[in-house]
Amino acid sequence: MQLSTKHLLGIKELSPEDISTILTTATQFKEVLQRPIKKVPSLRDVTIVNLFYENSTRTRISFELAEKRLSADTINFTASGSSVSKGETLLDTVNNILSMKVDMVVMRHSASGAPHFLAQHLPNTAIVNAGDGINEHPTQALLDAFSIQEKTGSLQGKKVLLVGDIMHSRVALSNIYLLKKMGAEVKVAGPPTLIPKYIEKALGVGVEYNLKRALQWCDVANVLRIQLERQNQVLFSSLREYNLAYGVTKKLLDEVNKEIVIMHPGPINRGVEIDSDVANGKDSIILQQVENGVAVRMAVLYLLAGRNN
Ligand code: CP
Repeated sequence: MQLSTKHLLGIKELSPEDISTILTTATQFKEVLQRPIKKVPSLRDVTIVNLFYENSTRTRISFELAEKRLSADTINFTASGSSVSKGETLLDTVNNILSMKVDMVVMRHSASGAPHFLAQHLPNTAIVNAGDGINEHPTQALLDAFSIQEKTGSLQGKKVLLVGDIMHSRVALSNIYLLKKMGAEVKVAGPPTLIPKYIEKALGVGVEYNLKRALQWCDVANVLRIQLERQNQVLFSSLREYNLAYGVTKKLLDEVNKEIVIMHPGPINRGVEIDSDVANGKDSIILQQVENGVAVRMAVLYLLAGRNN
């Protein structure tokens, strides 16, 4: 099995066959991760740098663990504490790291398009996007899809709701691309100021401004964080008012009275976009998403290493 692409820059560039290949390979790696010995030699002698120019907990640890489970050699770079503060450019930094015989780059950056820029300048090195600005977070969408498939059996025909700050969410965009390619129905819900105009026409998703009606429609609700760090103007009155109108609460779910799979990519702002009793409740698969992230990232790295050999 091979991917049609040598980088993972976004879901936009993947075919449905690529997505199926990654999800099938991830199922095999998830089985490996249940064994007493969780390590396989697949990427022995492959060196991977994790280049994080923006904060991360889940994605960074998950990639590093995936690399270690595949027996790759790993280097972790964070912009803080590096020579970036002395004015070194992204391309100089990466070229210096690559001159030490590094094979693959996993990169998170606050600038949308940063991994695409690297891929243009370094065509012979596999680049994996671990989240770029407000553009895409492809491995998050892949692990979300894997988790929906694992919980409900398939993506085809599933009604998936993305709730919250759609405007600034790279998770939302990658999820929309992936779910649409794999035959799911997608709606977004949130305040009008946090939903891009023309999203229905541009991306083929439904829009619902009333959260209760949106929840009545869906099988799966993926609840997103308000990305305050990416907002340079006031887009809603207060976090308390946001919670009252768009917070996924136990009271609201009791009123809807329907079985809905609850997801969240993390980090969670408890009491804002989701209440603790929902995040920790019986229908939540939030920690399964994190667990599945390792198998999904193993699959991506394994398939891209094969593509580049
Ligand atoms: N879901 C996600 O990307 O989390 P981190 O920012 O902690 O990596």
